[in-house]
Amino acid sequence: MIGVLVSGEGSNLQALIDAGLSIACVASNKDGVRALERARAAGIPTRVFPLEHYTDRAHRDSELADWLQLRGVDLVVLAGYMHLLTEPFLERFPDRIVNVHPSLLPEFPGKQAIVDALDAGVATTGVTVHYVDDGIDTGRVIRQVPVPVDPKETLVDRIHAVEHRLLPEVVRELCAAH
Ligand code: GAR
Repeated sequence: MIGVLVSGEGSNLQALIDAGLSIACVASNKDGVRALERARAAGIPTRVFPLEHYTDRAHRDSELADWLQLRGVDLVVLAGYMHLLTEPFLERFPDRIVNVHPSLLPEFPGKQAIVDALDAGVATTGVTVHYVDDGIDTGRVIRQVPVPVDPKETLVDRIHAVEHRLLPEVVRELCAAH
C-alpha cells in the first residue's frame, strides 16, 4: 500500500490518484492545503502532522511512521513534501521512500529548482524521481527525464506534465516489483 506525503498543491498526488494506484492514506505537515482537499475528495484518509505539535522533528517523524504503518503502508511517496525526513522515519521504510523533484539532480536541489535552473541559464533541466535519504534531494536516482528550458513561458507547465506522467509510472513499477 502507498502512503503519500504532501505540503501544498497536490497535483502530483492527483496524478497518482488518477492513475488508479492504491493509496492507503495521505499525510501533510501543513493544514489547509489543496492536496488534503484532493485526498478527501477521493475518499482517502488524511492526517496533518504539524511540527509545532511535537517536541522535535524526530518525534513527529516517528509518529508519522507509526500512522502510515498502521494503515499498511509499505511504500512512501513524497509528492511536493517540503520537510526533510529524519532517521526515525527513514529507518522504518528502507529503500521504500521516493520523491519527485523538478530538476535533473544533482543539479538544483531544494525548494525552487525551476527558478534556480532559469537563473543559471541552462538549456536543459528536467524531472527526477529518486530514493530519499537524510539530505536535500540527494538520494539514489531511479529515473530522470530531460526537459528543454525554452520556451521559458511554458517551462513550469511542461515540467509538471512530465512529473505527472513519470511519478505514477515509477510508483507502479516499484509496487509491482515488491
Ligand atoms: C512539484 O513540482 C515537485 O517536484 C516539487 O514540488 C512541486 C509540488 O507540486 N518538489 C520539490 O521541489 C522537492 N524538492 P504539487 O504539490 O502540485 O505536487
